[in-house]
Formats: sequence, structure tokens, C-alpha cells
Amino acid sequence: MSEPSQYDRIGELYEQVKDLPMGIAERATLLSALPDPRDRRVLDVGCGTGAYSRMFRRMGARQVLGVDPAREMLAYAREAEEREPLGISYEAHDGTAMAKLGDFDLVAAIWPLGHLGDRESYDRMVANLAANLVPGGHLVAVVPNPETDWDRLADYPGYGLSVTKTEDTGECQGCYVRVHGDPPFEFTGYIWPPGVFEESCAAAGLTGLRRHPVVIPESELAERGPEFWATLRANPMFAVFTARRAEG
Ligand SMILES: C[S@@+](CC[C@H](N)C(=O)[O-])C[C@H]1O[C@@H](n2cnc3c(N)ncnc32)[C@H](O)[C@@H]1O
Repeated sequence: MSEPSQYDRIGELYEQVKDLPMGIAERATLLSALPDPRDRRVLDVGCGTGAYSRMFRRMGARQVLGVDPAREMLAYAREAEEREPLGISYEAHDGTAMAKLGDFDLVAAIWPLGHLGDRESYDRMVANLAANLVPGGHLVAVVPNPETDWDRLADYPGYGLSVTKTEDTGECQGCYVRVHGDPPFEFTGYIWPPGVFEESCAAAGLTGLRRHPVVIPESELAERGPEFWATLRANPMFAVFTARRAEG
């Protein structure tokens, strides 16, 4: 079992993120990029409280396995499964060390790579994501925007969070994220420079890499107006990528 992580302090609180403007844009962009999960076997690495695991299952995935090293995040995911059984399994695994857990048509990695501060761990996790895909299977990943423009992050509280720089490791930029929820909470992460995710995917045998444009739901554009969303569109905190494991 892995060491307690910063997410053991967060647990259920994390669910609030999905309703903040940033979470709404993240989900819409992910949905626009996501290969159809219907009838697919899905592995959700870094599933946290299981919000996206539940989404994949509700969208018709045949099987969903969510894995995460943080017990408190998994505890919430399991409670949600008990309250409303969807047939999702959750297991404690660290994505940098996990074995092949099965044959999956779709592997999701929504933010866990942004918690790795050394290149070796980063490459190992990407290799493990790829190893769990069947040939031709799809990876969908959300990572911190490699082209983050720090000068524009001053506007981010309007989207529900503040992000500040911490240490520069020489390989990647540390950051501190405060989520203005009720109650607020914070966590730290790492922003990797442009090209690292792409290189790591190529080394892991992933092809057809695509970065997907930010999507804001029409209803949100109508409700809050395009001006409100302009900074997030120009300087998203996230980047959504898809790739495929090479056939054969
Ligand atoms: C920002 S949360 C996102 C959770 C979930 N994917 C979502 O979007 O709702 C990041 C998650 O990555 C997990 N994580 C951090 N390091 C990880 C690792 N080495 N392997 C797998 N998951 C990890 C954390 O425990 C946390 O639950």
C-alpha cells in the first residue's frame, strides 16, 4: 500500500471541482475528445472520487475499473458506488508502479500525470497506461497545460481556483493550486513543458496523438457570456490529448 498522499486530506471535497467553471470547461473538452465508451472496457487511472468513472459507465461502458493511490478519494468513490451501484470496481494502485490490470479498450488518465515531479516516474506511468490498452485501444489524458501563461493566471479565481508557481525542478514547474470551494482546499502539482507528453507517448508505443481544442458548453456561453470565458479559452489550465496503442 502506498504512502498517504495529499489527496487523503481532500477526499470528498474534490467533487466540488466539477461544478466550478474550470471543471465545466474541463468536462466539456474531455467529452469532445473522448472516443465513444459504449460497450468498451475502461480503466480510469487516478480516478480520485470516481466522477469520471461514473460518467464512463453512465455513457454505456461495459466495464469500468477506477484506480488511485489515495485512500480517501477511493473511499468516496466506493461510497458513491454503494449509494448508487453502477457496477464500477475500484482498486488502490499507483500508476507509476501498477501491473497490467487487464485488457482495456480505453484508458483514461485525467490529471494524475500532473502529480509526477520526475521524468522517470512520468515515463513509467505513461508506459503503464499504454500496457493496459489492447492494440488499437485509446488513451485519453488530461494534463496541466504545457503552455501555461503565468501572466494570465491572475484571472483564474473567476473560474474557481488560483494557481501559483512553486519550485522549478529543472525538468518541470511546480505549482500550488487553491480551489475556492466551500470549504476551500489546496493541492500541489507539476506542469511539464511542451513536448514531454508527446515524447513519453511515442516511447510507450502510442501513436496518432492529438491535442483537442477547449470546448465551452453553449449553455454556459449563453449564461455567462463569451467575455467571461475568454481568458480560460486563451490560457486553459488543462490540455486534453488522445492517442492510440499501435495495432499488432
Ligand atoms: C486532480 S485529481 C483528479 C481525479 C479524477 N481523475 C478527476 O478528474 O475527478 C488527481 C488524482 O490523481 C491521483 N494521483 C496522484 N498521483 C498518482 C499516481 N502516482 N498514480 C495514480 N493516481 C495518482 C490523486 O490521488 C488524485 O486522485
